[in-house]
Amino acid sequence: MTASSAQITRVSVRVPAKVNLELCVGPRRADGFHDLATTFHAVDLFDEVDVTSADEFSLTVTGLGADVVPCDESNLAWRAAQLMATSYGVDGRCAIAIRKAIPVAGGMAGGSADAAATLVACDALWGLGLSRATLEELAAQLGSDVPFALTGGTALGTGRGEKIVPVLATGTYHWLFALTHEGLSTPAVYAECDRLREGHRVPEPSPSDGLLASVRSGDVHGVAVAMHNDLEPAALSLMPRLRALMEFGLEMGALNAMVSGSGPTVAFLMASRKDAVALRNVLAAGDLADDYVLAASTPHGAQITSAS
Ligand code: C5P
Repeated sequence: MTASSAQITRVSVRVPAKVNLELCVGPRRADGFHDLATTFHAVDLFDEVDVTSADEFSLTVTGLGADVVPCDESNLAWRAAQLMATSYGVDGRCAIAIRKAIPVAGGMAGGSADAAATLVACDALWGLGLSRATLEELAAQLGSDVPFALTGGTALGTGRGEKIVPVLATGTYHWLFALTHEGLSTPAVYAECDRLREGHRVPEPSPSDGLLASVRSGDVHGVAVAMHNDLEPAALSLMPRLRALMEFGLEMGALNAMVSGSGPTVAFLMASRKDAVALRNVLAAGDLADDYVLAASTPHGAQITSAS
């Protein structure tokens, strides 16, 4: 441990939300998970996670949707700190404070992002100096989406989503996200996907060349054509009212619309930020969704913003 790391008592980390530009879901595996081929893409909605040295673990959550986030050991961020402490024989504990801007239970991996941020923060707080590979292993133990939140940018996820390889991506994409206060449970959406596909042969998932070529060249129209989510029919089956929202957004100028991850957030890909603002203003006049947020691509994953 270096002299400076020994003195650190507080670390702040910023971590982005994600949208899956493509989410191909394979058959259900023996362990209940599904093999995926998914292109994760980070967007500039950030949660901020502070960890401070303390005698006991504790957690506070403020910001967007904070009232429905658990503040106990069931929170993935708390489990991340615990996992790191027990894995590396850390004596100390920490107080975790999360400020949320990523929609809760919206299919944008907010809980996973907070867990990834906590891993990065605790590694610095406790002066462990863990390698990126070790952090990714811990992240994968916590959840399928957690490793991506460490990496950010644009990356291909395979396995159950936890095996991450960054992909070459250029350009900035502008999004309007339409939020629904009532959440969808990820296991329920996967189960509904299995139910809808019963009796059909489900191929092994593989990323489409069209999407990867489009993100490589920064071609927003190509991304709009190729973007795809195998969980969308299941999310729409569980929440049919999302369909009207998607259709209206398309009529009003979105390049394409897609359920984000396991939903219920709907992601509208837009030609520009100006178009995203215009669509938000049109949609906000109606009652098809509960809230709207604008976001654009970000190259970052979980990043330390201050340590003192
Ligand atoms: O890994 P994570 O805890 O985020 O997964 C939550 C749930 O989502 C799993 O328990 C499983 O029901 C479903 N899931 C899946 N296949 C994946 C990822 C998640 O079936 N690849």
